[in-house]
Amino acid sequence: MMALMTIQSLQKSFGGLRAVDRASMQVHQGELLGLIGPNGSGKTTLLNMLSGHLRADAGSVLLNDKNVLGLNPTQLTRLGVLRMFQMTRVFNRTSAFDNLVVCGLAQGLNESTAYARAAELLEELKLEQVMYLDAGQLSGGQRKLLEFGMCFMVPPHIALLDEPFAAVHPIMKETMSDFIRRRNAAGQTFILVSHDMPVIVELCPRSVCMNAGKVLAEGQTHDVLQSAAVIEAYLGDESTEDEAHV
Ligand SMILES: Nc1ncnc2c1ncn2[C@@H]1O[C@H](COP(=O)(O)OP(=O)(O)OP(=O)(O)O)[C@@H](O)[C@H]1O
Ligand SMILES: [Mg+2]
Repeated sequence: MMALMTIQSLQKSFGGLRAVDRASMQVHQGELLGLIGPNGSGKTTLLNMLSGHLRADAGSVLLNDKNVLGLNPTQLTRLGVLRMFQMTRVFNRTSAFDNLVVCGLAQGLNESTAYARAAELLEELKLEQVMYLDAGQLSGGQRKLLEFGMCFMVPPHIALLDEPFAAVHPIMKETMSDFIRRRNAAGQTFILVSHDMPVIVELCPRSVCMNAGKVLAEGQTHDVLQSAAVIEAYLGDESTEDEAHV
């Protein structure tokens, strides 16, 4: 399979703490890669470096063989690397529909394409009934779905999702996971960080598990979850850390 993104020996320390410790992994074109690991294992820090929100200490990130490490979030967004929930801003006194349209126009779509995509996304995200309400009148969950849609007016090459389901109502969680599944089936590449193992198992054929900044295991999600090292990491047994390589 072709690697869309190759992460090599990425490192980030905060003072004496190695939050990401020479982590390497590949994201294949079109895949929905799960990124799991106990609290504090470095998942968010890794995504922050991929999206340019944090500067790495060392390593490289290749996007289609071009090193993109060190670029800022705006440059990375232009290259199609999108970190969800940080790039968008909902205008509260503008309708949900217009929020989507404005977002599309700002990214260079023409009006008719922007209208068509907005309508399509509102349907997919089950927001048609509130499409003419001001975004400020939507519930928190609906607004999250709207932001989600804004990220896909111009689909990124790779979407980085950091716990998108956290604090989302179960019904909207279902809408969101359906959206991710459908878009992935249509070829969209994702990295999905989640503590929700049933969702990871359901959505992600392949996963990477981090622990203490390192890649502890990677492979078929089922195998990763069943590996002794991963189970021990989740149980918090730090004494086996050094031998825990799968
Ligand atoms: N800005 C920062 N300054 C200092 N330490 C930080 C900073 N950001 C993260 N850390 C530390 O780096 C480590 C990795 O944190 P990170 O947020 O990447 O973990 P995570 O895997 O996303 O955890 P969670 O599952 O809880 O979201 C943790 O020990 C955290 O406390
Ligand atoms: Mg995190």
